[in-house]
Amino acid sequence: MKSIRTALLGATLIAGAGANAASADELNLICSADNALCEKLAATFEEKTGIDVSMIRLSSGEAYAKIRAEARNPQTDVWWGGTGDPHLQAANDELSASYESPMLKELLPWAVSQAETSGYRTVGVYSGALGWGYNTEILAKKGVEAPKCWADLLNPALKGEISIADPNSSGTAYTALATLVQLMGEDEAFEYLLAMGKNVSQYTKSGSAPVKAAARGEAGLGIVFMHDAVKQAVAGFPIEVVAPCEGTGYEIGSMSLVDGSPNPDAAKVFYDWVLTPEAQNLALEVGSFRIPSNKASTQPEEAPKLENVRLIDYDFAEYGDSERRRNLLARWDMEVGAAAN
Ligand code: G6P
Repeated sequence: MKSIRTALLGATLIAGAGANAASADELNLICSADNALCEKLAATFEEKTGIDVSMIRLSSGEAYAKIRAEARNPQTDVWWGGTGDPHLQAANDELSASYESPMLKELLPWAVSQAETSGYRTVGVYSGALGWGYNTEILAKKGVEAPKCWADLLNPALKGEISIADPNSSGTAYTALATLVQLMGEDEAFEYLLAMGKNVSQYTKSGSAPVKAAARGEAGLGIVFMHDAVKQAVAGFPIEVVAPCEGTGYEIGSMSLVDGSPNPDAAKVFYDWVLTPEAQNLALEVGSFRIPSNKASTQPEEAPKLENVRLIDYDFAEYGDSERRRNLLARWDMEVGAAAN
């Protein structure tokens, strides 16, 4: 707490000397993880610092689009959470500000490497592997064997049972797209997505919605980050969590400060605080099971063990590159999205 107060005091003094004396008392936050955690972080930060947080929850692709649209007149101070690729794209486009937080030395290597890749314009806040959750009751009723591999998702018996998000809005679905491209090659991945599309009932906006639908029995299977499927299983729904047998990708959930934002001092106070174990452990209170980036944070027991998952060597620099992401999304729209309409 001492460091927050000291930083806050410093920020207030700096702000008081400038034109905008209110700047240390307000914070505009975009949060791209689950709403329960977003609200918990915002409320706890307000309580601790007296800084008013105005928070909106947006999926990763939507958050990137908002920050890009506001580039001439930024309205957001901090973008916390969501998959790393669009954060890297924002860094690539110089929409985010470079900041070397004193907290960096407390973080795990993958979180620091995200900062290094971006010239310190973004940083890793959590991690998790991609997979799916299926509803054991629905699949048993249909007599479908448990799908363990990406290849199994092409089974015609799963027609209308698969739910996945749209990669334009959702970082989860973009991670799935980039993962398949890295596993299979680009043309083969698009062929696969088109074939799997025959089994897809709907492309949702948010990345975790598919497994919530599977939990409620509205879909047989949701392609999501494994921790989102674990959350539903822990809540008591008949959801089995799968790490695909051919291998899978993962996210480095990230955080960025917006360049030229209205409250840069309050933004840094939030940035440094939210990287502490105290803030990262709040996830446990709301049933969020991602892998936190601070070495001293509590690793949730329920979090899928990455050593048991066949992880690909996900190329964050390539798939977070602006042109690469733009081109892949355009091809998805033309080939997969168009076939769905
Ligand atoms: C969920 C996951 C996060 C992920 C986020 C991305 O909240 O738990 O780990 O970063 O989705 O959301 P999006 O809607 O962009 O796929």
